[in-house]
Amino acid sequence: MRIIQRAFLLILCALNIQNGQKCRLNTRIHFEEPLPVIVKDGQLLEPTDSYGDIELNYGDTITLSCEGTTGLHHPNAKQHLTVATVTCEGGEMFKNDEWLNESSRFSHFKCTSPPEYKSKRTERTCYDKNPVMEVGYSIGSEFYPVYETCFNEAGLHPIYSKYTQKPYNSFYQTRVDRPYFLVDDIFGFVPVNALFSPEGLKSSVEDRVGPVINEYFTKHQQLSRGHLAAKTDFALAFGERASFHYLNCAPQWTGFNGGNWNTLEVDLRTHIHNAGYNTIIYTGTFGISQLHNEHGRLVDIHLHMDENNNPVIPVPMFFYKVVYEVSSKCGVVFIGINNPYFTQAEARNMFFCEDVCRDNLDFSWLSWHPNNADEGYTFCCTIDDFRRTVSHLPNFYVDGLLT
Ligand SMILES: *[C@@H]1O[C@H](CO)[C@@H](O)[C@H](O)[C@H]1NC(C)=O
Repeated sequence: MRIIQRAFLLILCALNIQNGQKCRLNTRIHFEEPLPVIVKDGQLLEPTDSYGDIELNYGDTITLSCEGTTGLHHPNAKQHLTVATVTCEGGEMFKNDEWLNESSRFSHFKCTSPPEYKSKRTERTCYDKNPVMEVGYSIGSEFYPVYETCFNEAGLHPIYSKYTQKPYNSFYQTRVDRPYFLVDDIFGFVPVNALFSPEGLKSSVEDRVGPVINEYFTKHQQLSRGHLAAKTDFALAFGERASFHYLNCAPQWTGFNGGNWNTLEVDLRTHIHNAGYNTIIYTGTFGISQLHNEHGRLVDIHLHMDENNNPVIPVPMFFYKVVYEVSSKCGVVFIGINNPYFTQAEARNMFFCEDVCRDNLDFSWLSWHPNNADEGYTFCCTIDDFRRTVSHLPNFYVDGLLT
């Protein structure tokens, strides 16, 4: 009798442990492509610790969506679905008895092709009464934004993209294919894809400068599609893909794009991880790049003339990244010159706020080469000082310099 009782208790214990088991997933291990859009508690799924782990309680439910594709793809599917919920059963196992004939490893949840992202105009406005556009995913009647962009509707260019960076962002999902850039109604009939192609970018500049084009477009320097929010600024595949939208894109010289700007992106993610920061980022563009034309005169560089003969889609003079840490209310701005054809003296003249990074040991985490023309001249400033020249940012209180 006692033996039976004990056995019964042991079984109960075993069941209990099983019932209490959490699910644990990691951005670098369990997420396979093409990954569905994943929603938990009404928000896009994000890691729950600093290392890209996502912990769910036993019985927690998440939604998987492949909207805009032919649907979810799973070897054990009993019926074809585009959106499904699955429930955590512990470890990396999830179930949905209506959809699947047995429990499934998380890594088996895939779409037939990458889900479709899109933009949505909000009721909100930003700098100069321009619209705030959100880029993200629709599931049914709900829209889930990945980031938002303050977009200059007359000049057809992004002012800034706003998103968050947290310690987990340095553990973004790897091996995510780059989709094509998406165009939007907001560009009207402007042939954005053609203008941003390598040939389109070159011929737009050639239209402004004439035969000296080959002094600017060389083996080492061309214009390219520059992301504001970078692909790897987002932790999971659906976020990374959504960065490929022309609302989040500006013409950027390749040396700068792959040089100091890339170094800043990588170093900043690592630093935010190490320091445990919870930040809001505004990555934006400012000013219009100029080049000397065949007659030696400085001309503004735009990609296109609209139907009223107004220049649209400028090549920006500066790219900037405002970093605001939410708990300390400290901030800093990193700025780069998007033009490799200045001397160091000319570039120094363009620094419109006091450079607080140079020779400052508090920024030793930043490994860019601020005096390198090919990689893009760079500097950084306090947010207050930056605001004296660039009036793009919404109002928020800044308590001091973020290092
Ligand atoms: C579920 O379906 C798959 C594919 O049809 C099959 O290989 C597997 O044996 C099934 N499992 C169960 C428990 O019926």
